Amino acid sequence: MRLLSARLIVSLIVGITLVSLCTSYYQVLVLNRGLQKDLQRRAEVLGESLARNVERDLERDAQHTLQQTVQQFANREHLAGLAVYDPQGHPLAVTTSIEPLMASAPTIVLQALQENHDTSAFLRMGSASIHIYALPLHRGGELIGSLAIVHDSGYIRRESLRIWRETFLSALAHVVLIVLITLLIVRWSIAGPIARTAHWMKALRTGRGTIRIRVPDLEMFRPLAREVATFAESLNTARSAAELEARLRETGESMWTADRLAVHVSARLEDGRLFVVSNREPYMHTRRGKSVEVKVPASGLVTAIEPVLRACDGTWVAHGSGDADQDNVDTHDRLPVPPDDPRYTLRRVWLTKEEEEGYYYGFANEGLWPLCHIAHTRPLFRASDWKHYQEVNRKFADALLEEMHNVSRPVVLVQDYHFALLPRMIKQSRPDARVAIFWHIPWPNPEAFGICPWQRELVDGLLGADLVGFHIQAHCTNFLQTVDRIVESRIDWEHFSVQRLDHHTTVRPFPISVEVAEADAGPARESAYEERAALLKTLGVEAALMGVGVDRLDYTKGILERFLAIERFLEKYPRYQGVFTFVQIGAPTRTHIKRYHDLQAEVEAEADRINWRFQADQWKPIVLLNRQHSHEEIAPYYRAADLCLVTSLHDGMNLVAKEFVATRQDERGVLILSCFTGAARELRDALQVNPYDIDQTAEAIRAALEMQPEEKQMRMQRMRKQVREHNVYRWAGSLIGELCEVRLDAAEGGGDKFRAGASVR
Ligand code: F6P
Repeated sequence: MRLLSARLIVSLIVGITLVSLCTSYYQVLVLNRGLQKDLQRRAEVLGESLARNVERDLERDAQHTLQQTVQQFANREHLAGLAVYDPQGHPLAVTTSIEPLMASAPTIVLQALQENHDTSAFLRMGSASIHIYALPLHRGGELIGSLAIVHDSGYIRRESLRIWRETFLSALAHVVLIVLITLLIVRWSIAGPIARTAHWMKALRTGRGTIRIRVPDLEMFRPLAREVATFAESLNTARSAAELEARLRETGESMWTADRLAVHVSARLEDGRLFVVSNREPYMHTRRGKSVEVKVPASGLVTAIEPVLRACDGTWVAHGSGDADQDNVDTHDRLPVPPDDPRYTLRRVWLTKEEEEGYYYGFANEGLWPLCHIAHTRPLFRASDWKHYQEVNRKFADALLEEMHNVSRPVVLVQDYHFALLPRMIKQSRPDARVAIFWHIPWPNPEAFGICPWQRELVDGLLGADLVGFHIQAHCTNFLQTVDRIVESRIDWEHFSVQRLDHHTTVRPFPISVEVAEADAGPARESAYEERAALLKTLGVEAALMGVGVDRLDYTKGILERFLAIERFLEKYPRYQGVFTFVQIGAPTRTHIKRYHDLQAEVEAEADRINWRFQADQWKPIVLLNRQHSHEEIAPYYRAADLCLVTSLHDGMNLVAKEFVATRQDERGVLILSCFTGAARELRDALQVNPYDIDQTAEAIRAALEMQPEEKQMRMQRMRKQVREHNVYRWAGSLIGELCEVRLDAAEGGGDKFRAGASVR
């Protein structure tokens, strides 16, 4: 750092000195020229005005008057004096003060006489610097002598010297100032951040990686710091994974981690490759003013699948729905993701407005979504939507087949109700592919499903898969009963599988989950209180207790029922008025659909009504944050809340419940969970409620707030154990493991396609 500072200082000194010298040289040059011209002009003007008088004196031979005249002009503003000479150059009259210099005519005077023309020159005579202007004198055209006007030009030199002196002083001041500023900048912006980074990296290397560093702290090194931060994160992850593995080996626990999944999957895939297809993409590029930002959409599917792809690599085929997506892909519509630390490939598929309208908004979300959820919103089935649904399934199948080209042993995980037709389409072109479809939403009973005009085609498409997964056993049963009712097939109820024509499909429950951070990333126990106070302060609310809800603004999530329960709770237990605030984070979703658009307005109106009824001073019962929040923005609410409310009217799984549990490293906080969620089967220690029963939910809120800390801790510990042991890696490991056990040679001949021992511990 010293060498850098010395180099900077020397360069600055040389640079500033050179610039100052050149500038001053030019200034002096210009000034000299100006002053000389000015002096010359003054001499000429004076000469012109005096010449007539002197000529008259010479005419009259008035020696005495001539001497008086030259004497008068001595020492006037740089004028040293005058001298008059005869045509031979003999002095006739000379100002006394310049007599020593001008007693004999200088060359310049002789030159003027000889050439009969005025002439001038700057001369150095002895120690004096002078300017002489000589002009010939005439009488009736005859040369009768010469007048010399002598100026002291020493002041021009003195002016130049003054400028050089001032330049030197100002250059010196500049050098000192700039050197000081440079040294300070070097110390603050370079030496400081480098020292901090080095300190931080050393802490990481030696395993004391708890020192946190904020990227902005590193100022101009930000781009470098980002890379280092990613590197450090990977190092930390690797270290904690290794520690975790060691701990698990020590305790004999069988836990699924990202590393274990990666090993498990690569062993199963051999030289194959993993492909995931979903409607929703994991990263969207969207425009914000002139810049483009990368967003992770609010989606349980993305939350679950993303860590799996990160761990196992592969290709994720999804709809490119961001308005800047097309500008951020290569010529094959691919891009490596996550953008700042690529681990797998995203292949984007483009849809026209009409396709999106018919397939996504229409058939998938106005038809299948309400059909499967049975949440009292009537499904709409339009022939035009069905046509688009088929076409888009074909489009995704083509994109996937393109990605699978030249890949032997591909393993395909199709996601959700958007792609019921895809498994059969894939299998028809690539019978060697192992295909599973995971249905993230409930599967209703056959009577409910039976109202769909294209139920046969949908079920037939799904039965193209080797494996069909649901969250819970009840949905598997509903599905098999539906199959039994509407297509020709042989169902094996003992093994939960279907034989249709030559194809064999197994149906299994795989309860999806989340990633559980093992590292102690959360705040210390005490700071949950501080975090809550800080969060509420930013929301402009004062409250001692806080609840949280995190949902897409979907009618299946029971948000209105939740608000009614909060109202009932405050009505029944007025002591909580002014004390308990509920923060609802609600991401707008599918807003082109009228039902969703209306719901958003209803939720806002309901929150306003309840707030208006109870609010006082700095407190209000409900804070509605209806915009999408990132995982990082949501986590502090989970950590700080006294309770989390999940009141879905019907939900395949509900990952918010599991995320809340996964975040509570402090083992505090109470989960109130709808019994109509898939998660309710696993999280038995939540306070389970029927969301339609407003009083029951209100009572659960009271019970959660008044629960003894020991009980809270015991319940949370048990739920955390469940979520930790049944995390998303286990889900993916089970699904992929089971799929990889499919015996493809049996595909043509039928029979049991699964080898014994395919299950995952
Ligand atoms: O629950 C089904 C599901 O696909 C989830 O996996 C996901 O959270 C949600 O719907 C997202 O819906 P969309 O992709 O339509 O926003």
